Formats: sequence, structure tokens, C-alpha cells
Amino acid sequence: MQHLTDNYTPLHEDRVAQLAVRIAQQMNLASARIEAISMAAAVHDIGKVDIPLKILNKPGRLTAAEFDLIKTHVQVSYDVLKLINFSLPVPEIVWGHHEYMDGSGYPRGISGDQILLESRILTVADIVESMSEDRPYRKSLGMDLAVQEIKRLSGNRLDPDVVEACLQVV
Ligand SMILES: [Fe+2]
Ligand SMILES: [Fe+2]
Repeated sequence: MQHLTDNYTPLHEDRVAQLAVRIAQQMNLASARIEAISMAAAVHDIGKVDIPLKILNKPGRLTAAEFDLIKTHVQVSYDVLKLINFSLPVPEIVWGHHEYMDGSGYPRGISGDQILLESRILTVADIVESMSEDRPYRKSLGMDLAVQEIKRLSGNRLDPDVVEACLQVV
């Protein structure tokens, strides 16, 4: 059987879940909310099953059209997860994992408090983990660069409280 997704997404999701839970604990979120973040993180990129492996594994730079296609994974993740009867807002948390505080994210371009806090936590954990992992098109950039990057985005794209909590736990 052909693989449904690339080789790094499952491990990536596990690592994002671990970090997102630590951030949420640092922020003293209630246990049900932490549970929901953990579940959402573990499946947040499931929509990538809809993207050709040739694109996911492409070693070079993506074209604008290819990047647009990759962006569709968020809506697919949401649509698939909505088919499951979660007692927690797992699909909704996943839906916001590429939205930014300043409205420059996707797929909806929502901003600030329109984005669930759980999603904002997932976003920061996703960025840190993505940068500190190897990818088909580059080696790991290392934790130092990841920390610099979330500091740079704090207060514009990222929630400064979440960034602060993340810096405490990495
Ligand atoms: Fe994603
Ligand atoms: Fe991700």
C-alpha cells in the first residue's frame, strides 16, 4: 500500500503534542483543556493525507502553487475530524493551528481572540518543533534558532503569553 503521508508527520505530531501539553501546563490550563490540546496536536496535520507525497517530500523550494496546495491540509484536517464525535473541541483547535494573531494566517485569516487559546498554543509548539526537526528540504535549524524565531513573532503573529510559557519549558 502506498504511504498515506510522509515519514516525518506522525513523529512531528507526537513531539508537538508533548511540547503543547507542557506549554498548557505552564499556563495552568484546566486538565480537560490540556487533554483536548494533546488530542488535537496528535492529529493536527492529518489533512496532509490529501496532498501528493511528491509535494510533501519535495527536496527543493516549493512553488507558490505547491504551497497553496499544502495549505489546504488545515481545512481537510478539520473536515475529517468533524466526522468524529469528540466530546472536546478537537476539530476546532486543529482548525486554528496556522492562524496568526495579526490575521495573516490561514485558512480563515481570523485574528486575536477569535483564535482559540488552545490553537495559539498548538501554533507555537508547531513552529518550534518544525524548526528543530530535519525536513526533506533542510536539516534541523536547531532549538536556538527556533527560540529566536518565536521571540521575533511574539506580539505580532504569536500570542506573547504563549511564547513566554514556551520559553519557560524548552
Ligand atoms: Fe499544519
Ligand atoms: Fe504541524
